[in-house]
Amino acid sequence: MNKGDCLNDPKLLLEAENITKRFRSGDTYLDVLKGVNLELESSRLAILSGPSGSGKSTLLYILGGLEKPDSGRILFDSEPIDTFTNSRLDSYRNQKIGFVFQMHYLLPDFTALENVLMPAMISGQSDQAALERAKSLLAQLSLLERINHYPNQLSGGEQQRVAVARALMNSPRLIFADEPTGNLDRENAIILLKLFRKLVDDTGVCILIATHDPELAEMGDKTFRLHDGKIVGSKNLARG
Ligand SMILES: Nc1ncnc2c1ncn2[C@@H]1O[C@H](COP(=O)(O)OP(=O)(O)O)[C@@H](O)[C@H]1O
Ligand SMILES: [Mg+2]
Repeated sequence: MNKGDCLNDPKLLLEAENITKRFRSGDTYLDVLKGVNLELESSRLAILSGPSGSGKSTLLYILGGLEKPDSGRILFDSEPIDTFTNSRLDSYRNQKIGFVFQMHYLLPDFTALENVLMPAMISGQSDQAALERAKSLLAQLSLLERINHYPNQLSGGEQQRVAVARALMNSPRLIFADEPTGNLDRENAIILLKLFRKLVDDTGVCILIATHDPELAEMGDKTFRLHDGKIVGSKNLARG
């Protein structure tokens, strides 16, 4: 399908063109990404699937500007991120995108509310509006009664929802989630996926979830399958 074929064509957010990445260990090379092409649009829950070791995390970090590809380009809003100055790259990472990892990486000495506020504080907003937003995000994620709890006082599912609230704090356009359900039981994994679905539908954010779990891969609007360093299949799933 060409761009423009669809009347309510969602906005193209990010394009990856011919991304390659090789890791070296001793005198052997591992070509993890061999020319990856992918496009992400707003209001989409997209899945990056592939077996363990297929390069999903590597690709996510490259798309998020945390790692550099050996060749290829990433365009965000049609602008190549490799031309960004360091401060612009910092603001891309702090304002435009959010990350959720398998491990929540919450700061243990800060409460849920303080952890969610952290990205706003990093970008210099620590006002009442930021506080209200952090509380409202925690409320949306059914965590209002947990805002003053420390990470070790929260269940795994709750910790991960705090991490999602933190990723949302600066209203990013795109969220990368790397095996976000990896440490959750099935019930909490489904709760988290449904939550991602709702966030996409309510806010228009795009979420790209890397997972090796085939069942979760069925819950997205679109699946990119990574195999042997390339996207071998991308399918649009019908939505009811
Ligand atoms: N920094 C690194 N140095 C060397 N090899 C790496 C590095 N990061 C990842 N790899 C290797 O690249 C391959 C893909 O890793 P990864 O992107 O983590 O895959 P996935 O997330 O799909 O499990 C694996 O074989 C992994 O061991
Ligand atoms: Mg991984």
